Amino acid sequence: MSTKPTTKRPWSLRRKLIIGGVSLLIVLSLALGLGLGLTLGQDDGDEDDNEPTLTPLPSPNATRPWLPKVNDTWQIILSHPPLISSSATSTTPNVSIFDIDLFDTPASTIQQLHKLGKKVICYFSAGSYEDWRPDAKDFKSEDLGKQVDDWPGEKWLKLGSENVRSIMKKRIDMAEKKGCDGVDPDNVDGFQNSNGLGLTANDSIAYMQFLSSITRPLNLTLGLKNAGSIISAVLPLVEFSVNEQCVEYSECEKFQPFIAAGKPVFHIEYPAGDGDLQQSVHANGFSEDTRKKFCSKNGPANGSEGFSTVLKKMNLDGWVEYCDGRVEVSSMDETSGGHERRRRKR
Ligand SMILES: *[C@@H]1O[C@H](CO)[C@@H](O)[C@H](O)[C@H]1NC(C)=O
Ligand SMILES: *[C@@H]1O[C@H](CO)[C@@H](O)[C@H](O)[C@H]1NC(C)=O
Ligand SMILES: *[C@@H]1O[C@H](CO)[C@@H](O)[C@H](O)[C@H]1NC(C)=O
Ligand SMILES: *[C@@H]1O[C@H](CO)[C@@H](O)[C@H](O)[C@H]1NC(C)=O
Ligand SMILES: *[C@@H]1O[C@H](CO)[C@@H](O)[C@H](O)[C@H]1NC(C)=O
Ligand SMILES: *[C@@H]1O[C@H](CO)[C@@H](O)[C@H](O)[C@H]1NC(C)=O
Repeated sequence: MSTKPTTKRPWSLRRKLIIGGVSLLIVLSLALGLGLGLTLGQDDGDEDDNEPTLTPLPSPNATRPWLPKVNDTWQIILSHPPLISSSATSTTPNVSIFDIDLFDTPASTIQQLHKLGKKVICYFSAGSYEDWRPDAKDFKSEDLGKQVDDWPGEKWLKLGSENVRSIMKKRIDMAEKKGCDGVDPDNVDGFQNSNGLGLTANDSIAYMQFLSSITRPLNLTLGLKNAGSIISAVLPLVEFSVNEQCVEYSECEKFQPFIAAGKPVFHIEYPAGDGDLQQSVHANGFSEDTRKKFCSKNGPANGSEGFSTVLKKMNLDGWVEYCDGRVEVSSMDETSGGHERRRRKR
């Protein structure tokens, strides 16, 4: 929570040149390998815009995954799977997208959400080892880096490891089999953290390209979690952003390129930090001042125009407040999932 994002430090020109050059290499090899078209970002004199970008060429029988839209409404519940009664005719809240845990949520719940016209994004950690997952034993000790700060049981992963990638491919295959419409791979920003593996932005860009090479043929929509400093390199590969706390860190502007590209930013703030909610907040929502801070489009929230904002508790349970002050509580199946987790890692 209190860790200052390292991305705020301006990058040295040398580092930019190295990463820019390397991104260009990746882009070129991808363009050759996957038959994608290559366009170089127009240089308007701003150094930050010099990174190359990819534009997939339309191909007649390419799969067209579900494309979420700017301003789509959503709910995210990771502490336990949502519980939807078989006689339900709508969901609580009645939003169009649910972001839920890939492992804990049964396929039948995803089916129910689909029947109610909802889209489902399946969350998993792609860049950290979580010792409680059913496939945890498949990781090798050399895949693992430092423990994720404040988070026992979780370690940064070596993103270039073939073993890690084959585990992630299996997870994405599971997402497809369970019927998820998209995936929300978390912790792809190890390079912004003390990770013990020497991870670089380059590694994360290459990893997003790897994830995209798996999701694309499966017709699954891919999102980018946080990772503000690699957006220009990977924006063409992803269809949405999931951002945590850009208002808290006054960095929403970084995510505005998604909106400009017609791709939604699913934006989470934790106004109560990692504490619990007061009874009155639980019932009626945060004070108007708090809500204004996170929902206005100015001050620390500058640059958040068009974001799909939810105010949540850090354990990401069923409680949610929207910017219009509406408080809703989704039912959860408390017999499943329930690992105590903190969702902010950078
Ligand atoms: C694309 O279409 C062509 C011609 O209809 C077909 O031969 C080819 O197998 C298709 N490719 C894929 C990936 O479906
Ligand atoms: C891909 O997903 C979209 C949206 O769910 C669907 O309309 C389309 O038919 C799917 N394409 C294939 C090839 O399954
Ligand atoms: C839920 O949302 C859908 C889609 O926006 C709408 O058609 C439906 O009437 C809503 N149901 C309720 C009970 O509000
Ligand atoms: C960047 O990534 C590419 C592709 O994964 C790799 O070949 C290259 O060595 C990396 N360069 C640096 C400086 O990390
Ligand atoms: C606010 O954000 C916009 C982009 O949405 C940016 O152009 C502007 O410079 C920002 N203003 C301040 C004061 O940071
Ligand atoms: C999203 O909602 C905002 C606020 O209502 C509106 O200004 C903006 O035009 C909407 N954008 C799109 C693409 O619908």
